[in-house]
Formats: sequence, C-alpha cells, structure tokens
Amino acid sequence: MSPFNLDLFGDTEPEQPPRREQIGAQACVLRGFALPWLESLLTALEGVLTVAPFRQMVTPGGFTMSVTLSSCGALGWTTDRSGYKYTHNDPQTGQPWPRMPDVFFELAQAAAREAGFADFVPDSCLINRYVPGAKMSLHQDKDEGSYAAPIVSVSLGLPATFLFGGFERSDKSQRVPLLHGDIVVWGGVDRLRYHGVLPIKDGHHPRLGEQRINLTFRTAG
Ligand code: SIN
Ligand code: FE2
Repeated sequence: MSPFNLDLFGDTEPEQPPRREQIGAQACVLRGFALPWLESLLTALEGVLTVAPFRQMVTPGGFTMSVTLSSCGALGWTTDRSGYKYTHNDPQTGQPWPRMPDVFFELAQAAAREAGFADFVPDSCLINRYVPGAKMSLHQDKDEGSYAAPIVSVSLGLPATFLFGGFERSDKSQRVPLLHGDIVVWGGVDRLRYHGVLPIKDGHHPRLGEQRINLTFRTAG
C-alpha cells in the first residue's frame, strides 16, 4: 500500500449533512455549532451560576415563568411586576451580574459570523433553564436599545421544539427541532420575529440530565 493510502482522511464522511439550515432570509440554525466549545462552556457556566443562581421570575401580568433564569454580561434581562428590563445588577444580590466568560463571547461571535453577522458584540447573555414541562410562550425580543444586532441562541441538554413565527403573534410558526449544541441566529429583517419553545418533553440528556439550558446572547445596551 502506498503511504498516501494511509487512512488520513478516512474519518471524513463522503457527504456531510448541511450544518446550516436557513429558517428565514437572515435567520438560520447552525447544527452542532457549540459542540467543540462544550466542556469549556459548561465549566464557565458553572462559575456564572455559582455567583448568580437560577431563580424564578414573575411577568408584569403576575405569572411566574416556567423557566428559571440567570444572566451574565454587563446587562442582565429581568422581569417583575413593574415590567421587563435590563439591569446592571442582579436584583437578588445587588451586585453586578457576573462578567461574560470569554468562551461565551467567542462562541456567540463565531456563530453570528457564520450566520452572516460580522462583529457581533453581545453585552448580555440570558440563561434559561427548562425542566420537562417548562416552555416559553411566543414573544418578540424587543427590550434592547437597538435591533441592529442579531440574537444568538444556544441550546444545551434536552431537545426542544423551537417556534419561529412571523411579525404578528397570530402568524403561523415554523416548528424547528433543536438539539444539544445547536445555535439559532436571527437578525436583520428577521430580528423582530415572534419565537417561543414548546413544553420540553420528559427525558434524560447524557451530559445535562433532566434539563435544557438555553443561552441567549444580545446586544442590549
Ligand atoms: C428565548 O427566546 O428567550 C429562549 C429561546 C430558547 O430557549 O430557545
Ligand atoms: Fe426570546
């Protein structure tokens, strides 16, 4: 056998499935994009959650959200009876939100670039924890100071069905299955689309157990 026939490229699939799925003119799913970052991402996440643990939040309408939340970065998204807002400090401790770990920032920026948004500079990462049954109703992300930057949304743990709708709540939504490591990016003409998550099904994820964690990166300030 010639040395050139060594199995140097033998692990390469002859045909890779498409890793990028367009769900809008400026919206896509990057399949498995977070996987190479995973272990450092989870280590950094653990550090953030030690300082700012998951907590329940109440909507302005008085409903307790089924997801529990935390944040890191210069600004953290919160909700209470007085409204939705970004704050510099964690209302629970009065201290600044934990700084955004470099690995978070780098992953979000790389995903945005891959999706066609150069120079994404997120200053906020909302961390949502879903246990089976938890969901996110259809909503628009519109508490940010500007809509020029995209949203970068990382899925970890249990699978989810992401709803990606139109510009009215009543518009029909696409149902997009999301798996551990997938990233959804939407911006530009798609920035204000309604989106949500169907109730998470019972299950056990080998790395994260009985939960789904979502990291939502935004330029809020
Ligand atoms: C969100 O829109 O805040 C969360 C989306 C998700 O969990 O995938
Ligand atoms: Fe959202």
